[in-house]
Amino acid sequence: MRAGPHERKRVAELRELVEYHNQRYYVLDDPEISDAEYDALFRELQTLEERYAALRSSDSPTQRVGGEPAAGFEQVRHEAPMLSLANAFSDDELADFDKRIRERLHAEHEIVYSAEPKLDGLAVSLRYENGLLVQAATRGDGTTGENITGNVRTIRNVPLRLQGKPPALLEVRGEVYMTRKGFAAINEKAREAGGKVFANPRNAAAGSVRQLDSRITARRPLAMYCYALGAVSDDGLFEEHAQVLSAFRDWGLPVSRETELVTGVQGCIGYYARVGAIRAALPYEIDGVVFKVNSLTEQASLGSVSRAPRWAIARKFPAEEAATQLLDVEFQVGRTGALTPVARLRPVTVGGVTVSNATLHNMDEIERKDVRIGDSVVVRRAGDVIPEVVRTLVEERPKGAHMPKMPDACPVCGSAVVREPEQAVHRCTGGLFCGAQRKEAIKHFASRRALDIEGLGDKLVEQLVEAGLVEHVDDIYALQLEQLQSLERMGEKSAQNLIDALQHSKDTTLGRFVYALGIREVGETTAQTLADHFGNIDSLMQADAETLLAVGDVGPVVAEHVQRFFAEPHNREVIEALRAAGLHWPEGPPRETQRPLTGSTYVLTGTLEALTRDQAKARLQALGARVAGSVSSKTTAVIAGSSAGSKLDKAEALGVTVMDEAELESLLQRYEA
Ligand code: IVH
Repeated sequence: MRAGPHERKRVAELRELVEYHNQRYYVLDDPEISDAEYDALFRELQTLEERYAALRSSDSPTQRVGGEPAAGFEQVRHEAPMLSLANAFSDDELADFDKRIRERLHAEHEIVYSAEPKLDGLAVSLRYENGLLVQAATRGDGTTGENITGNVRTIRNVPLRLQGKPPALLEVRGEVYMTRKGFAAINEKAREAGGKVFANPRNAAAGSVRQLDSRITARRPLAMYCYALGAVSDDGLFEEHAQVLSAFRDWGLPVSRETELVTGVQGCIGYYARVGAIRAALPYEIDGVVFKVNSLTEQASLGSVSRAPRWAIARKFPAEEAATQLLDVEFQVGRTGALTPVARLRPVTVGGVTVSNATLHNMDEIERKDVRIGDSVVVRRAGDVIPEVVRTLVEERPKGAHMPKMPDACPVCGSAVVREPEQAVHRCTGGLFCGAQRKEAIKHFASRRALDIEGLGDKLVEQLVEAGLVEHVDDIYALQLEQLQSLERMGEKSAQNLIDALQHSKDTTLGRFVYALGIREVGETTAQTLADHFGNIDSLMQADAETLLAVGDVGPVVAEHVQRFFAEPHNREVIEALRAAGLHWPEGPPRETQRPLTGSTYVLTGTLEALTRDQAKARLQALGARVAGSVSSKTTAVIAGSSAGSKLDKAEALGVTVMDEAELESLLQRYEA
């Protein structure tokens, strides 16, 4: 077929694009597009070149692998070239590969393949002379790579001296990679230090291996797996690839435990499925599996084409990352009230499924990743893990892209949304009322240490909510016998028992009731402390921060949660409804009101003679008084020592009572037991 101007233009365009992205990936370790997008460009170019002979060219990126060696490393020539692999993206393409091989070999038999995981790292060649590691090199362009011996010597599982009797010259090919755990750890550290965060373990491994300072490499959690033979001094040592791998193991070289021999296409398909199933659980990332004709004689007669051997193929897994557009950000309310920003995406295939929603975790993450609505973002879906937005392509940001905003009101129930003190998470404060939280709230309310409603377990709560019989906690007290009996797995007897248990639970204690409300950070003990202190629910509901902080064991976080909970009108409504349903508890007069000076506020100013200011303050507080730092019309009295200044003036101006030290002393003595 003759190529038209359109095809010519597209091929030139694709070459430029592929070269550019090659450079970003291989040389700069900083890719801009996902592997899937790169593969698509590469394949489009390959297809055009295959179709139009006139468009083929030896300098096309399809004829060359990887990028130039970076300046700073010495160049080394590989004794035997480092080949790459052809890819198969479907079972059909795999079957074609097998068919081609059998045709070329005129084989009657099924082909036996060595099946191996395809590690996603960086190809490295090791050169051993008389069993000693003398050189390590990157692949580079396949013929010439970079000398990275110093760096590879720091990788713990690469032997510096081989065991047994290896050939005098031995080139070993393998993949240097970083475990997922190691990757997470170094990124965490980098994030803390405000440094550069790597996009994925492959880039982290590549960046680490190509460090000019090998001391830095030594601190990176790298490892290597060996999978092929390069040049070797002794001919005819092996007949099968499996023997090569087993010799590697004997010499002390690391080889993946997941390697197997399989037979024919069906064997390959089975292996692909097995490894696919454990992919997410493997400690390192793999992007596919590799099948290699096991017989070395057969390999030799098949030979190689420009960049890859005819006897091997990579069966790729669906890419775990893809780029798409962020259409909007919505907020999902979890069962504990946490609001999670969720990305609404232009649908895209990731990890083999169509993804149109992904988590953005929290507002801090959005800010850290600089994600804006309208951006192109990279979405990742690994295994069964919830898809997430991993980064944004800032360089492609369209005009008008804007930051998502956390709503002030809960999208489910309209209650106020607040940020947890010192945490990244935002929460709905309508714990008792909110539809998203109702199941958890009711389960907690009924639990043994709360209102202890026997028979109202987690399963039944879910049934009741799902059947629409219960919306808010107080609805449980309106349940009728017939309604309960209509539920699945609910007999007459248990329905009656539940009605009785509900009735019984109405007679409770304030401590249990406060605990049952499910206020964050208010456990059983704190609930009891609050109950003892305030004596009745109304005082607790009205308490301001200062009053709450005066309660032993109540710190600022608890005080804040308690205040926010009761500040939410929806929660107050439910509490009123519960009281109206007949919930009651013995009302002790609050301990606080029993103290003689409760409700009064004193201000100390000037120098006292007999007492220090702290002593005076402590004695006043012991009697229930509040001691404030500034004078207002609400101040009960100002106690003025000698050389009192502006506070005394203010008291006089406001008409606040002024006492001297003697009057204070007699006040204290009157009430102190
Ligand atoms: S064999 C003779 N086996 O994948 C063919 N390669 O996309 C040389 N890779 O350059 C490669 N795991 O960096 C082979 N078990 C494995 C592999 C593997 C990962 C990498 C290697 C190669 C690239 C090709």
